[in-house]
This record gives sequence, structure tokens and C-alpha cells, in this order.
Amino acid sequence: MDEHLISTINKLQDALAPLGGGSQSPIDLPQITVVGSQSSGKSSVLENIVGRDFLPRGTGIVTRRPLVLQLINRRPKKSENAKVNQAANELIDLNINDNDKKKDESGDQKAGQCEDNKEEWGEFLHLPGKKFYNFDEIRQEIVKETDKVTGANSGISSVPINLRIYSPHVLTLTLVDLPGLTKVPVGDQPPDIERQIKDMLLKYISKPNAIILSVNAANTDLANSDGLKLAREVDPEGTRTIGVLTKVDLMDQGTDVIDILAGRVIPLRYGYIPVINRGQKDIEHKKTIREALENEKRYFENHPSYSSKAHYCGTPYLAKKLNSILLHHIRQTLPEIKAKIEATLKKYQNELMNLGPETMDSASSVVLSMITDFSNEYAGILDGEAKELSS
Ligand code: GDP
Ligand code: NA
Ligand code: MG
Repeated sequence: MDEHLISTINKLQDALAPLGGGSQSPIDLPQITVVGSQSSGKSSVLENIVGRDFLPRGTGIVTRRPLVLQLINRRPKKSENAKVNQAANELIDLNINDNDKKKDESGDQKAGQCEDNKEEWGEFLHLPGKKFYNFDEIRQEIVKETDKVTGANSGISSVPINLRIYSPHVLTLTLVDLPGLTKVPVGDQPPDIERQIKDMLLKYISKPNAIILSVNAANTDLANSDGLKLAREVDPEGTRTIGVLTKVDLMDQGTDVIDILAGRVIPLRYGYIPVINRGQKDIEHKKTIREALENEKRYFENHPSYSSKAHYCGTPYLAKKLNSILLHHIRQTLPEIKAKIEATLKKYQNELMNLGPETMDSASSVVLSMITDFSNEYAGILDGEAKELSS
């Protein structure tokens, strides 16, 4: 039921992409948008949530187009591979399996980090039908697509790249990675790059249906966080902003983020979640995400400041919390989304009727039929919701 709801929203996102995609979509869909300063750890957080290395990284402004990332939890059918299925069910709550013993017993090796197996793959909207089982190729395709639109210099574009990742190890979530906030243009970047990035971020996060994932490095002053400042511009009450504190491991000895977690610095309704990603050295030494997640867990469990609340720290908790916030948000906005879909549908039908069938542009007829399909499916979900509520 819950999975169905989010996957239906995902379908609508695709259906609306020809009309201008993410930022210009006539219907404001709930999704989680990632904002923060350059190098605050945004890409690292996203990769840890997915459990795979697939995002372009490097110094400077690497993310130069929005990446609409749809994670789809897909359980392999029993007939396909009973063993994998069992592992998937065990992993369903977390994107990693932290129970090594069980895995060894089942003989299933490193289920969370299988390299290029057939149970996890990516698909780009601009390359329909092509399945990417190799996550290095996903990264290469993102780089290629970014350069295609922005040129190989360091320009930016608000035209999104749409990527879906199917895996038994992810929770169904829609995330949007956005360029990091930067102050100083580098190379042949336009002098107003700061303004350009700010405008793009605002376009995404000012929509009332955007949930803002504000990523801040714990070893910098939260009060000076550009990402949080921007989030507060569009969400002054902090009712749709969730904070992530990265680089907790790099804080000065004897300091911690307890005051921030307790809401004594800049309170947010959804609070803050501290995480630890791989450092530059870890990446150079090819530390796997799996190892990094184990390391993160150990860190919070053994740290005197966090051990009593270790359950509320770290990436697996962040992923679960995001999934439940997204569902809550979708439920709240169901009636509004439905009304907008119906209005859009009516508008298109009228336009096409006025044009007459012979002038009907094939692209808009495809969009119309997709919206119609969605609308029918949506009606089913709303019925289901109503039944659920009345029972
Ligand atoms: P982005 O520019 O916001 O996407 O940031 P990245 O995810 O690319 O991270 C920037 C740098 O910070 C990289 O060298 C990461 O390895 C490092 N980094 C990110 N998060 C952490 C963390 O929690 N701890 C440590 N030690 N390093 C981190
Ligand atoms: Na970076
Ligand atoms: Mg990045």
C-alpha cells in the first residue's frame, strides 16, 4: 500500500517530465530536496542512503544539474531466487544488513554490496529501457549527461537528470540532488554563479511540497550555514526541513552536536540526524560503503555523547525517517494533488478537442494518456485510503 503510493507518485513524475520536468511541473509532487554548501557531504549522504557508489565526485562543483533520484524497493520474486528473496526480506528495514551472522549462515555474500549483480540496477529517463547493472557506468552517464547540457566547463543547468534505482536494499524514496552553494566562481564559471545556484535551489525548495534535507558539516558553525539560511527563507517555521549533520567524526575533541539535536541551536520540527560518511582518505583506500556504515554504527554506539541515543543516529535511521516523512507528506497532500491532476487533465482534453484530432500533436497525446492512466490509478489509491481510514 505505502510502496504503491510512492511508486504511483514516481510514475506521475515521469509522465510530467515532457512538460518541463521537476521544477516546472504543473503538479507539485512531494519529494526530498538536498541542499547545503559545497563539500558539506551531500553526495556522500545520498550514496550511503542508496548503499552504492554511483555519484560523480571530485573537488569543486561536481553536481551541476539537478538529479531526480527515485529509489524503488524491489523484492525479487521467489521463483527468481529464493535465497536472494530471503535476504531482501531481512534487509527491508535497512539499506544494509548489519547482521553478518545470518548472512554467513545463508551463504549469501555481502548482500548489501553485491557488485553488478542482477538484483540492483539503474535506469535513466533519457535512455528508456536501458538497464545499468554497473554503477560505475551510472556515474559515467551522469557526467556525460551533465556535460551535454552544461558544456564541459563548470556551468550549471536547472534541467534535471531523472534516474531510477531498483534494489531490494533501498527504501522507496524520491530524492533530488542539487548543486552545492558556493561563493567564489572558479575556472570559467560565470561571475554570478552564486546567484544562479541560489535561484535554482530556491525554485526547488520553495515549493510547499518539497521536503528540504539540509546537509550541514558538524565541524562548521550551524548559525553560518548557507543551506539552512536558504531553507529558512522558504520554510521559516522549519516545518518541512530536516537537518543532517555530517562530519561528526571531524569535530574537535570534547565537542558534540547534542545541543543541536536537542533543538537548542536552530530548532527544526523534524530535528537533526547526525551521520558519518567516508572521508577523503577512506575513499582513496577504497573503503566500501558497507564498511563505512558499520563504522558509523560503531562510532555512535561507543561515543559517550551518543551511546544512549544511538538508535536515532546514523544513515539507516535517516533513510527510515525520510521514508516516513515522505509518506506522511504525500497523505496530507493527496486531495490537493488529485484536484490538480483533474484540472490538468481537463485542460489538456479541452486543448486537444479544440485542435481537432488531425492536428493532435503526438507528444501531447502521449502525455494525456499517461495522465489519464495515472488519474485512474490514483482513484484506486484514494479508494484504498478511504477504506483504510474507515476500517
Ligand atoms: P558535496 O559537495 O556536498 O556533495 O560533498 P561530498 O559528499 O562530495 O563530500 C565532500 C568531502 O567531504 C569528501 O572528501 C568526503 O569524503 C568528505 N566527507 C563527507 N562527509 C564526511 C564525514 O561524515 N566524515 C568525514 N571524515 N568526511 C566526510
Ligand atoms: Na563536492
Ligand atoms: Mg556533490
